[in-house]
Amino acid sequence: MSALLEAASLSKTFFSEHNALPAVCNVSFSVAPGECLGLAGASGCGKSTLARLLMGLTPADSGTVSFNGQPLDFADAALRKNYYSQVQLVFQNAAAAFHPRKSIGSSIMLPMLNYGCTKAAAQERSIALLLAAGLTPQHAEKFPHQLSGGECQRAAIARAISIKPRLLICDEITSALDVQTQAEIIQLLLKLQAETKMSLLFISHDITLVQEICQRILIMQSGTIIESGPALDIITRPQQHYTRELVTAAFNLTKI
Ligand SMILES: Nc1ncnc2c1ncn2[C@@H]1O[C@H](COP(=O)(O)OP(=O)(O)OP(=O)(O)O)[C@@H](O)[C@H]1O
Ligand SMILES: [Mg+2]
Repeated sequence: MSALLEAASLSKTFFSEHNALPAVCNVSFSVAPGECLGLAGASGCGKSTLARLLMGLTPADSGTVSFNGQPLDFADAALRKNYYSQVQLVFQNAAAAFHPRKSIGSSIMLPMLNYGCTKAAAQERSIALLLAAGLTPQHAEKFPHQLSGGECQRAAIARAISIKPRLLICDEITSALDVQTQAEIIQLLLKLQAETKMSLLFISHDITLVQEICQRILIMQSGTIIESGPALDIITRPQQHYTRELVTAAFNLTKI
């Protein structure tokens, strides 16, 4: 099956006064339509930088991102707008992703209005999305600071899927939440993915979580994808020492 999203040789180095930090080094991979792909690796290995490169939020030093077989030029506003109508990113800190003085309902409506929905249709759909995300119509009237972390994350997912993206990138979306809320958000994500058939790029330092959701997993270490394969193989037969350590540490932790 041809790729929905393809990253080819993406690299990004951050420079400080005294040193260069290669955060993403020559990363290539693709996401198929409807696929749930996981990206796992320890804190600081470059996962969020890679997510930002895929969204054009951080410019790559080299490499390309292609969508539907078309290489993207993030400097082209029309191409970017079309890309964002099909690819959405949800961050770890959902509260910070909402405008503090806008109600949750109006924040959810905004992408729909930007992409040509009428106000009445956007309003109606925002309520349906809140319900689908396990919230209530009353949450539309609230402001971000009036929601719990879990409620905020549900609202962020509702907003991201409002324009029916073909790919949702989730960057550590449950790492600030307690275990119960984390499980609920994962269930929500799986339900929405099954309904919409969208692709998922699920990013987490927690490989136990990644393997619950994804068919295939990329393992990242120090900016490089060091191993990739079907989730079951990665968990049961890791090839790289680093992957073995990641899996052993994660599964030992869950037993405690
Ligand atoms: N804007 C930036 N300027 C300089 N260095 C940065 C910048 N963004 C990230 N880095 C560095 O790049 C490296 C990778 O960071 P990144 O946030 O991508 O890691 P991560 O895998 O997402 O970590 P975590 O699991 O903690 O979220 C880190 O060493 C980080 O300090
Ligand atoms: Mg990160």
